[in-house]
Amino acid sequence: MDPFSNPFSPGAGAPPPELVGRGSILQEAAILLGRIKRKRPEKSMLLTGLRGVGKTVLLNEIEHKAREEGYRTIFIEAHEGKSLGALIAPHLWKLLFELDRMAGLGNKVKRGLSVLRSFISALKITVNDVTIGLDIEPERGAADSGDLEIDLPNLFVALGEAAEERKNYIAIFIDEIQYFNQKELGALIMAMHKMQQRQLPLVLLGAGLPTLLGLAGDSKSYAERLFNFPDIGALSESDAAKALNDPAKAAGIIFESVALAEIYRLTKGYPYFLQEWGYQSWNHALKSPITIEFVQNATQTVIQRLDKNFFRVRFDRLVPSEKNFLRAMAELGPGSHRTGNIADILNSKISSLAPVRAKLIKKGMIYSPAHGELAFTVPLFNEFMIRAIPNFI
Ligand SMILES: Nc1ncnc2c1ncn2[C@@H]1O[C@H](COP(=O)(O)OP(=O)(O)OP(=O)(O)O)[C@@H](O)[C@H]1O
Ligand SMILES: [Mg+2]
Repeated sequence: MDPFSNPFSPGAGAPPPELVGRGSILQEAAILLGRIKRKRPEKSMLLTGLRGVGKTVLLNEIEHKAREEGYRTIFIEAHEGKSLGALIAPHLWKLLFELDRMAGLGNKVKRGLSVLRSFISALKITVNDVTIGLDIEPERGAADSGDLEIDLPNLFVALGEAAEERKNYIAIFIDEIQYFNQKELGALIMAMHKMQQRQLPLVLLGAGLPTLLGLAGDSKSYAERLFNFPDIGALSESDAAKALNDPAKAAGIIFESVALAEIYRLTKGYPYFLQEWGYQSWNHALKSPITIEFVQNATQTVIQRLDKNFFRVRFDRLVPSEKNFLRAMAELGPGSHRTGNIADILNSKISSLAPVRAKLIKKGMIYSPAHGELAFTVPLFNEFMIRAIPNFI
């Protein structure tokens, strides 16, 4: 059918035609934003989930809601090789300048700028896109110890007080938060602790891989008292059907129920895969209804596309020993597996595999859902590994 009117949207962060099955998370976020505005304490939120479950689109949607509620927002995406300080500083700078331009009495905003200036000089951050206030005097001793776990909380307090003085609320969104190191996560946790203690109008909403749970837990034992970690998972069969059916119906097209069941069987309800199958099934269908035959015809194309893009970009970042490790995991089938069983397949000792395992966790390929267990962070990656390396051992 007409590819121009195809409603499906496979792609990282691409808003789906319908954000299905996330009502309770959106409600939780709305309560959090509402309570912070009313100076009521509430835990910040860190969404965790596998690749392609829809964390980024949820975070974007919550940002949109926050703006509607009158929040000033900052959205950053963490990545390997860039520090939290360097990422966040230019945004805070811009925000403080906006607050500075607003009418209002008091000197908290100016102080915020001075504290930020001292934070930047202590971290020796070079920020290219804005010339960060060489004309502003840093406030010595405020956030310039060089220890992020001290400086970031102080900076957030200065920022929170500046916002409070101008009767503003700030929401900071951080995607891919698992890329921060323990020190950085620890600093964020400490900073949010201060926000809660002083009831300042600054809230943090993050998203990341399930690896985050382990990292945050190690960083600060009280992380769980400060943050909720809602688990963003695959959609149920009925929600998956809705995610396909509703956008099609809006365009006057229907899916046969066996076609929907087949897509659910193949995708296990993972949102990214639902969009891919929906998209290709639509293009392969000659007319409505979209039957199971059309879906089956599309499947080959979908798998080829996934293998070439979604899976391949991750596979290409691996060295041979890492590929071998993941291939051994795939041999054990879907789900999580004991490290000992993976070692057996590789004829190795658990201890000698520790460095490879650690690198794969750092690269965000696997995580440990329970002690001594490992699972893929990318849904259906086990099936891909078998296609990529069919002859193993
Ligand atoms: N609730 C939903 N219903 C239907 N489709 C969805 C839903 N959430 C996300 N999608 C679709 O899933 C795909 C992946 O979404 P997104 O990029 O937000 O995932 P992610 O969890 O951030 O992935 P990654 O970990 O790779 O960054 C997009 O194509 C999006 O349109
Ligand atoms: Mg994402």
